[in-house]
Amino acid sequence: MEIKNLKKQAQEELNLIGKIEELKKFEEKYLGKEGKITKILRSLKNLSDKERKKIGKETNEFKDYLLGEIEKRREEIRKREIEEKEKEEWIDITIPPKKIEKGHLHPLSLAQERIEEIFVSFGFSVIEGPEIENEWYNFDALNIPKDHPARDLWDTFWIKSQKSKVKSQKWLLRTHTSPVQVRYMEKHNPPLRIISPGRIFRYEATDASHEINFYQVEGLMIDRDITVANFYFIMDEFFKSFFRKETKIRLRPSFFPFTEPSFEIDIVCSLCKGKGCSVCSKRGWIELAGAGMVHPNVLKAVKIDPKKWQGFAFGLGLDRLAMIKYKINDIRLFYSGDLRFLRQF
Ligand code: PHE
Repeated sequence: MEIKNLKKQAQEELNLIGKIEELKKFEEKYLGKEGKITKILRSLKNLSDKERKKIGKETNEFKDYLLGEIEKRREEIRKREIEEKEKEEWIDITIPPKKIEKGHLHPLSLAQERIEEIFVSFGFSVIEGPEIENEWYNFDALNIPKDHPARDLWDTFWIKSQKSKVKSQKWLLRTHTSPVQVRYMEKHNPPLRIISPGRIFRYEATDASHEINFYQVEGLMIDRDITVANFYFIMDEFFKSFFRKETKIRLRPSFFPFTEPSFEIDIVCSLCKGKGCSVCSKRGWIELAGAGMVHPNVLKAVKIDPKKWQGFAFGLGLDRLAMIKYKINDIRLFYSGDLRFLRQF
């Protein structure tokens, strides 16, 4: 083939090349060991002097030309590839970074921490007790004998086929935190000042203000000459600190087998301001705690002399306190795991 035609053909092919690999093939086709130009150059020796000079010159010029063109095209392709890459990998450093989600405490934990802080400032210690209890601690030692109708105050989850170490004592999920009082008094001598926050369980139907498990904060203060006045003062101070404002509380006579006299502490419903709503069951007041002066029989059961020592005990409803503090109208929200709810704290 004439060099002229070959040049034309090569030029057309080269124009269509857009990739480095294609360019490599092209180079091979013309300048490789078996390439078209290489072959021509190799066959020059068979030609006459005159022709060899002429064709040799033309071919070498073509070779140089083609090498130049290939180099040019290579540069073009490289440049374009770099540009494309830069476009793809472009980073907008002005975009604000994604927020890292931080964990935070559950509203019940927040309330519990605050309660602990306040009582610690009053000189109380914070202690824990087991969630699985036996009849003795949950009932008997608290002056609630077997078959006594007062047991019906606590609808109990009994645990099947488990025998406690104490003979004929059945296991249960504690229905209140009061057993911790007994456990503590067994091991410590008065004067005593403790609170014990923890989860409790009741076999009940659920609604906006009832759950089958919830939290109580038990309180116990035993000393010489403790009266209801001491109790009222501590409670009043506590509620003022907890709600950070003046709140109205009242003591309502009540009954618990382990306290005498017994009270219920009510607080004005801050959601409806006493008008009545779903949280306070339309009463205007919310029951926040059961309480009273520790019954002599309870002290006797743990070998504390009731003639020398007396005191008060209370069981605060932690969920209710949190509901009032954070204006939550359904106790079930605490246990729903609903992130729309939890993220608000
Ligand atoms: N344990 C009682 C209850 O759960 C509350 C309470 C605690 C009452 C301490 C008196 C003293 O209902």
